[in-house]
Amino acid sequence: MPQISELKREFTQRFGEREDEIRVFHAPGRVNLIGEHTDYNGGAVFPAALTFGTTLLIRKRGDRQLGLASTNFPLSHAIPVDGIVFKEEDDWMNYPKGIVWELAFRGIGLSTGYDLLFHGEIPNGAGLSSSASIEVVTAYALLIMEGRKADTVEIAVWSQHAENEFVGVKCGIMDQFAVANGKKEHAIHLNCDTLDYELVPFRSGDCKLIIGNTNKRRGLVDSKYNERRSQCEQAVKDLRSVFPELQLLGQLTLEEYRANESRIEDETVRRRARHVAEEIDRVKRSIEVLTRGDLAAFGTLMNASHDSLRDLYEVTGAELDAMVDAAREVPGVLGSRMTGAGFGGCTISLVRDSSVNRFIEEVGAKYEAATGLKPDFYVCDIGDGVREWKGEA
Ligand code: GLA
Repeated sequence: MPQISELKREFTQRFGEREDEIRVFHAPGRVNLIGEHTDYNGGAVFPAALTFGTTLLIRKRGDRQLGLASTNFPLSHAIPVDGIVFKEEDDWMNYPKGIVWELAFRGIGLSTGYDLLFHGEIPNGAGLSSSASIEVVTAYALLIMEGRKADTVEIAVWSQHAENEFVGVKCGIMDQFAVANGKKEHAIHLNCDTLDYELVPFRSGDCKLIIGNTNKRRGLVDSKYNERRSQCEQAVKDLRSVFPELQLLGQLTLEEYRANESRIEDETVRRRARHVAEEIDRVKRSIEVLTRGDLAAFGTLMNASHDSLRDLYEVTGAELDAMVDAAREVPGVLGSRMTGAGFGGCTISLVRDSSVNRFIEEVGAKYEAATGLKPDFYVCDIGDGVREWKGEA
């Protein structure tokens, strides 16, 4: 957590001293352990919340304006609470604006204006869900400030809807769900079709999870993300010749998929769908092996996930592949894969404690030699989902 007292000072410098109390909320970033590009197919995912994220300081105003500021970006100004519209030039502010718009869409009009100061610790564009973190913390804080129920499953659904419909990014539910519902030392096994989920203790034994940031920025909106989504929809259309009721690829078992794969006409679409069907099965097997404490078997599944994202789904790219290749050469690495949407962003590796330093040195050097980019590494602890911060004043 950042120094709250410093942030409070910054808040009053920007927004002035007032009687009303400044309250502090926090939502983490997330990392996905396995189950990639399965969420919008109604499949399973297995993400976890991080111990760093977005801190939000918020206070009531006496008018119907929203004062928006961030310690990360220079752009800040006040906008009216009512009649919120998306504006390209509002940049990061479109995320909190989207939540105010979403609440209005759900019939929850704000009773007053607020001042909000955001402090983000998640590198932007790294695929660790900085945007979901802003959305979820804003929704949670505003609901609490308004004296409403803050249901974290509902908040995840609403935040995803705001990102889809207000910001215009057609992401699945995974990021917002993990950020809203994460739990310290647990990963979330989520069925993205039904939203049933269980928190699974993540016991990493004598291993650490290491996030490697390729520092190759990942542009979700401009990327091939939407193209992959429509290819999956095409696969569903083709498979309806055998399963007339099929809505999402994730509703098929791996056996059902395999027996009918030939119904998918286009070869590329078939490869995309095969990744999805097999990746969902890998999530299931991951839960099984982790329940037995078999980290080596989980590492093997992580490797298979990356290879499938590289060869079948084709969302990795030179930087992610270079980092994963370098990671797998280090003794004591049980598995390594890209995490998130792909096309840049981060990898996640499962590494024996005794190999962590060597990992950071060797992967860093090899990756830089291969790509000319300097990577960053974070030894990853699993933290809690969104909450009010009632610690240090
Ligand atoms: C991004 C999206 C998620 C999910 C992943 C890929 O993070 O926001 O909804 O689709 O990509 O697994």
